[in-house]
Amino acid sequence: MNDAAPPALPTDASPRPVPAPQGLAPGVVANWLDWAAAELAAHSDSARADAETLLAELLGSARAQLRLRHDEALEAATVLRFASWIERRRNGEPVAYIVGRQGFWTLDLVIDTAVLIPRPDTETLVEWALSLLPAGTSGRVLDLGTGSGAIALAVASERPAASVLATDVSDAALDVARENARRHGIVSVHFRSGAWLAALSPDDGPFDLMVSNPPYIAEGDAHLAALRYEPRLALTSGIDGLDAIREIVREAQAHLKAGGWLLLEHGHDQGAAVRALLESAGFTAVETRKDFGSNDRVTGGRKP
Ligand SMILES: C[S@@+](CC[C@H](N)C(=O)[O-])C[C@H]1O[C@@H](n2cnc3c(N)ncnc32)[C@H](O)[C@@H]1O
Repeated sequence: MNDAAPPALPTDASPRPVPAPQGLAPGVVANWLDWAAAELAAHSDSARADAETLLAELLGSARAQLRLRHDEALEAATVLRFASWIERRRNGEPVAYIVGRQGFWTLDLVIDTAVLIPRPDTETLVEWALSLLPAGTSGRVLDLGTGSGAIALAVASERPAASVLATDVSDAALDVARENARRHGIVSVHFRSGAWLAALSPDDGPFDLMVSNPPYIAEGDAHLAALRYEPRLALTSGIDGLDAIREIVREAQAHLKAGGWLLLEHGHDQGAAVRALLESAGFTAVETRKDFGSNDRVTGGRKP
């Protein structure tokens, strides 16, 4: 615990005045944000932003609008919920799981702990994919390991005439992805349960474009502790993290059209290894692109 004087929390959900930190007006938004940011300071690099995101969600407000509501008193029920969310965040749970959603590309996606939290770096893959799909294309796209549906739905939202197949070995993840498609009214994505390319039926494909953000962290990697809320299935893949990528590269050409592309997200230090895998499988025009942090992030190649 830190030393910030915590506002007294109500013990039930009945609306009543909530005492605030000393010297401040009772229980207004600004006070609770200060309290929460102090609570989170030792647990998050983005304590203030986390507090604002969580409270904005509870108030049904955009985070940017919260500033206009600083003098608003909070109801006891909201305070109780806010305090329990701050406690979850103090324990290391990501904000996205607490609020149950995450923005990706232009989409607001619902998520739960069955799926990886979509990352901004994966938008590098979406940008590259869209550059390979002319506007109005009716081409076929395959997203392997779709999780929340992030990549498949982002591509489908920009190329509505394309036919997108999204697979995952996790049925719980596919439920989340289907819900996201439904919420966004996207009907051009179909979902299939199964392991990598074994999920495909004989009449699926051949594809113009195959994309995947597979698990790529090595078993035992030190970063896994910080990712403990996310499904292990979405994170690790063998002792060097490359098992899934090896399998996808090995099987991909049988399901790609001539001239079709395979794009794979990977770890910042795996670019050379993934390029070598693609080249030895016979892909041409192999190159690696960088994410927003200038790290190697996506490697792709073309079937001759
Ligand atoms: C890193 S997550 C990516 C999720 C999503 N595509 C994204 O970018 O946010 C990897 C996904 O691959 C799925 N996965 C793991 N093993 C798989 C397998 N053998 N076959 C198909 N999907 C698999 C996981 O369930 C998880 O949803």
